[in-house]
Amino acid sequence: MKVKTRYKCGSCQYISTKWIGKCPNCNEWNSFAEEDQVVSTVRKQQSGTIITPQSLALDANKVSQPIATNIHELDHTLSGGIHPGSLILLGGEPGIGKSTITLQMCNAFVQQSKTVLYISGEEGQAQVAQRAQRIHPDLLAVHFMQEYSLENIVATIHDVKPDFVVIDSIQVIASEMLPGMAGSITQVRYCTEVLMELTKKNNLTTLLIGHVTKEGNLAGPRILEHLVDVVLHMEGDRDRTMRMVRLLKNRFGPTHEVGILEMAEDGLRSIDNPAEMLLNDRPEGVVGSALGCIVEGRRPLIIEVQALCTKSVFGYPKRSATGYDANRLTMLLAVMAKHLKINTLNSDVFINIIGGFTVKDPGVDVAVCAAIYSSLSGIPLGSRDVFLGEVGLSGEVRKSNLQTRRTQAITSLKLNPVAELTYLRDIARLIKQS
Ligand code: TYD
Ligand code: MG
Repeated sequence: MKVKTRYKCGSCQYISTKWIGKCPNCNEWNSFAEEDQVVSTVRKQQSGTIITPQSLALDANKVSQPIATNIHELDHTLSGGIHPGSLILLGGEPGIGKSTITLQMCNAFVQQSKTVLYISGEEGQAQVAQRAQRIHPDLLAVHFMQEYSLENIVATIHDVKPDFVVIDSIQVIASEMLPGMAGSITQVRYCTEVLMELTKKNNLTTLLIGHVTKEGNLAGPRILEHLVDVVLHMEGDRDRTMRMVRLLKNRFGPTHEVGILEMAEDGLRSIDNPAEMLLNDRPEGVVGSALGCIVEGRRPLIIEVQALCTKSVFGYPKRSATGYDANRLTMLLAVMAKHLKINTLNSDVFINIIGGFTVKDPGVDVAVCAAIYSSLSGIPLGSRDVFLGEVGLSGEVRKSNLQTRRTQAITSLKLNPVAELTYLRDIARLIKQS
């Protein structure tokens, strides 16, 4: 048996035989740590008990049922609720409502007389208690601890034997066994690994709250996503009440589901009809605003795209997109320039998706172009028109994915689907008519 030293990137697991400052794979700096690799020349001998393989046939009694949170939208997103024995990562920007929704999940366990341990490194007992009281008085049964040391947390878990553990947040706890500050890639990763082992061995349910960095990554470059069972991401506009809970990974059911919630006085509530909320807030007859339809999970959702085109003061025109991909915007402007003969070379163009949604669905291309066209021409769009379709580089308009489902959803809301475009150049005619 030989021992070799190698270096492993804490972020993407890239292996190098030499220490390097910047990872060539994920571009992270100072992420390499030394590790000894035991190169075995003989087949490993089994020591102790030998585990015999079992049949995959499930014993119905052993299949645990999910614990419903009774927030309909969240339960729908999680295909029924929180699965006992799972490790969940909940990410989102600060102030979006992560601690609030977590306390609501704690309440689901409390209502079933289960033991909950809430470990907060961010807020003190008084702060958490105040929030808990707003949500449900029974939440005062939760065990609370303000702690930063992983070793103390593990000892407390062994002591209290909770059913549900919350770590708020994974970036503020650190192990005394490792160098490096809390929040560093090595610490976050190690703490998660220890908590995962503890969760699986003791059949706990653990929820880790993670802050999202500027780049939109959960606790660094996706380092935790492959470790945990479930990844939830909360998003929305902090100045508004609507929130989205997106399921990015789920070992217990389908992914890419989305729950639409509203921040109320006593926590988050499901929104049954998000389109109604959007349309009620929308002023009529304004230029630069178009409705579009996206599909999130399997559900069509109406969104509002706003565009503002103004004369550029500097030589280099500015393109800015909030909730929308700036590269896609540049592409659409190029297609509009070529096929609609619209010149935005001297204009600053701003795109904003209302409500804090981040839209990646190409099915909103035509809606984005319509909003830009409306802003440039000063013609408002029909207040009930929903623009559908994907724009290709040749100026053609293609049907969006699940177009029929989108059209049905639009008509059921008594809105008007605009889906008859074949070429983007027809948009001018269409908008002038309406
Ligand atoms: P919080 O859960 O603390 O966000 P995070 O943990 O993601 O940083 O929630 C932040 C905001 O939510 C805060 O501005 C207050 C508001 N809020 C409500 O509107 N209603 C409530 O019932 C609660 C508990 C919070
Ligand atoms: Mg918080």
